[in-house]
Amino acid sequence: MAAKREHFGGRSAAILALAGSAIGLGNIWRFPYMVGQTGGAAFIIIYLLSCLLLSLPIFLAEAIIGHRTHAGTFGAMEQLAPGTKWKWLGLLTVLSPLVILSYYSVVGGWSVCYLWQSLTAGFHLGEIGAVSSAFGGFISKPGAPLLCHTLFLLGCAVIVSAGVKSGIEKFNKVTMPLLFVLIVVIMVYSISLPGASAGVEYLLRPDFSKITPSAVAAAMGQSFFSLSLGVGTILTYASYIRKDENILFTGLGTVGFDLLFALMAGFAIMPAVFAAGIEPGAGPGLIFETLPYIFAKMGASAPWVSAGVAVLFFLTIVFAAFTSAISMYEVGVAYLVEQKGFSRPKAVILIFVGCWILGALCSLSFGPLAGMKIFGLTIFSFCDTLTSNFLMTFGGLLFVIFVGWKMDKAVVRDEFTAGGASRFNCAVFDAFWFLLRYAAPLAIVIIFLTNFFA
Ligand code: PHE
Repeated sequence: MAAKREHFGGRSAAILALAGSAIGLGNIWRFPYMVGQTGGAAFIIIYLLSCLLLSLPIFLAEAIIGHRTHAGTFGAMEQLAPGTKWKWLGLLTVLSPLVILSYYSVVGGWSVCYLWQSLTAGFHLGEIGAVSSAFGGFISKPGAPLLCHTLFLLGCAVIVSAGVKSGIEKFNKVTMPLLFVLIVVIMVYSISLPGASAGVEYLLRPDFSKITPSAVAAAMGQSFFSLSLGVGTILTYASYIRKDENILFTGLGTVGFDLLFALMAGFAIMPAVFAAGIEPGAGPGLIFETLPYIFAKMGASAPWVSAGVAVLFFLTIVFAAFTSAISMYEVGVAYLVEQKGFSRPKAVILIFVGCWILGALCSLSFGPLAGMKIFGLTIFSFCDTLTSNFLMTFGGLLFVIFVGWKMDKAVVRDEFTAGGASRFNCAVFDAFWFLLRYAAPLAIVIIFLTNFFA
């Protein structure tokens, strides 16, 4: 079975795929609004530290498991700890990315709709409240959001069904460089707007009084989500990386691109927000409420420029969401193909059906199913809270405990140092080992507990 497994073409292909998984709605939608709400540059500094000191070691732990075994999450656990309860971690990390995929596809679908709207009718000026209620009205109707969710998921299915090399790798090779070009264009435009310098300053001037314990936990949680940790996507992609590849460099490359993109998204959005005279702490509505308002406002004086920027912006979101969604999709496909003997197309269809149904329920929970509550939450919020606040952190904790405390140190060292070949990796191994065994589990427990007390 292992002999038939596909591999990514080389280091750059692996980094592009992993960065594709990492760079997504988390960078464009969540990061800028969290910076906005949590004190600008001070948040960015804490975020940077948590990426390097917390998320990178967790990323490497997952990657080491996948790269060592060349198997999907369940198969990897069965290989490294056969016949033990660790198989439940393998199973959990098959299911949790599929739950994320279901609601992620709904938000991906909204972006598809907004892209369509920017291409056709555009956004029209009204009070900002009117734009927000237009968004509320749009997501509460069953038709268009369901159609867009279907289109989005179908797009993922087509890419994943083409396989790791001809589907996932090829798609990432084209879209990832394009994403960077798009975000640079939007950023340059945004910074050049009159009044934008206040936004730039906001991002660059740290306000340390805003750094409360809950802001630190939020930064750690965000770096966790942004790097797709704890749900087996990194493990599965790493299992497609060639044996002789240097995992640490792959990890550093991925974290670097993810960070760079999040920062550029911040500089693409915040200057425009300030230029339009809007409060920076708008929260989750930033992308679908505040920005259309800004596009509409710009459109009053420069309709073509505004329409062009809106198209580029929603195109960026759609592509970024796609490259992340296919990584979640692949986790389930790898499991069904390797463990259940499904053909790839059959596995892709089965996952499409499951995620489409759950996603449809999530989508309808903004309208007809709004009254249906699980633990007091709508279906969408329940899936989001369950995965982002609990399953991701829980999965991440178990992965670091597995690599730090259960796996043989010599094996971990061998993987981390590329068989002792990399002198740089050998030199930093002890620091990694400390972060992995002590700092990472402690930090994850703190993030987890803030769910209850923050
Ligand atoms: N990292 C992705 C983002 O930033 C989200 C994601 C989470 C992707 C979990 C895969 C797995 O949007």
